[in-house]
Amino acid sequence: MSILKQIFFIYLIIHLVKSDPINRNIKIDGNFDDWKNVPSYTDPEDNIDGTVYDRSPWFPSLKFPDCHDADTFQPDPIPTHVYNPNVNIVEFKIAHDDTSLYAYYRVVDGGVIGKTSVGANEFDKNNPSQSSAGRYYVIATVDIDNDNTTGYWLHGGAYHPTAPGFDGNFEVEFFNGSFNQDVYLDHAANNNTEVNYLKHENKRNQFIFRPAIYESYTEYIYWKHKPTSSESKRCLDGPYRLPRPYSNNYICFTQDKAPGPFNGIISYSRSEKGNEFEMRAPFEGFLLNKDTGRPTLQLGMTINISLSLETSGEDSTPRDWSSDTAATIQYTLSDSAA
Ligand SMILES: *[C@@H]1O[C@H](CO)[C@@H](O)[C@H](O)[C@H]1NC(C)=O
Ligand SMILES: *[C@@H]1O[C@H](CO)[C@@H](O)[C@H](O)[C@H]1NC(C)=O
Ligand SMILES: *[C@@H]1O[C@H](CO)[C@@H](O)[C@H](O)[C@H]1NC(C)=O
Ligand SMILES: *[C@@H]1O[C@H](CO)[C@@H](O)[C@H](O)[C@H]1NC(C)=O
Repeated sequence: MSILKQIFFIYLIIHLVKSDPINRNIKIDGNFDDWKNVPSYTDPEDNIDGTVYDRSPWFPSLKFPDCHDADTFQPDPIPTHVYNPNVNIVEFKIAHDDTSLYAYYRVVDGGVIGKTSVGANEFDKNNPSQSSAGRYYVIATVDIDNDNTTGYWLHGGAYHPTAPGFDGNFEVEFFNGSFNQDVYLDHAANNNTEVNYLKHENKRNQFIFRPAIYESYTEYIYWKHKPTSSESKRCLDGPYRLPRPYSNNYICFTQDKAPGPFNGIISYSRSEKGNEFEMRAPFEGFLLNKDTGRPTLQLGMTINISLSLETSGEDSTPRDWSSDTAATIQYTLSDSAA
């Protein structure tokens, strides 16, 4: 073989190995047999003693407790260990088909994904026996443009081990005992002025890429039809009808603990025991890329994706917010099957 041919051959192999085949078999139905052949990644199984650590490739000298508090916004000093079986990820998978991205989460046996307690107020450390309105977030965040300078660092949201460059999220929120909303986030702002610009652009079906700090973003529910009149009434900002040819579609800007339920286009299902969870996010919810005019997420792209589970303190030891973030995975949305 000539050198050029060899180089081409090596390129082809790397390309084939790294490319993730399309999978048109996954149904969001609480039956997980359809995930059986999808490559699996593991996350360490944490324990109550706090002896289990993760590492970030960006801070190789530091080790982070696997499940940890949710208010340490830097990699150093490291967060403290807070154990909660409901967020203790042990396995995860990523898949896609022609229109959607899928994420699979499994927590340790006995953990229940999306479990929240019911009460009048948030958990109060000074009154721990009082029942409280719990919260739970199933989070997938994506470096969509494969550029680590746009978007936020995970640690800006207190997620560890950290990594840079996350532009957009899809999430499901549970609140006060039940599903509350499913949302997309556009992380491309540094202050309220920039958030207002993001809103202006999102309403026009545009998704923005910019360097960002974690706490400045837009969060919206996306429907492929008119939201119900009840949803429209409860919507905090909107609903806004997207411009043609997307004028059957609507978004409503929202925030944590919004007066749900809001049933947008993201769907999810849970196993009977509750420790497995699957989530489907249609690409359409990421709007159009303002820079290219094309769909923000589409086949052929290489993205980085990071999964987290996060919950309020009712079932934690000590009783504080707890989250677990898995390692960042590079993923290529191939248009061919395996
Ligand atoms: C949670 O739901 C309960 C029962 O429906 C209700 O009494 C309580 O006010 C709710 N809590 C919040 C924070 O909305
Ligand atoms: C994507 O993630 C991989 C694996 O963690 C990492 O090596 C790579 O640098 C990341 N890419 C970007 C653009 O951050
Ligand atoms: C970002 O990516 C560039 C190019 O791949 C790389 O040189 C740089 O070290 C990365 N920065 C971080 C913080 O990962
Ligand atoms: C908002 O952030 C951008 C980017 O850092 C900066 O250029 C702009 O001056 C800031 N605006 C305000 C009002 O702080």
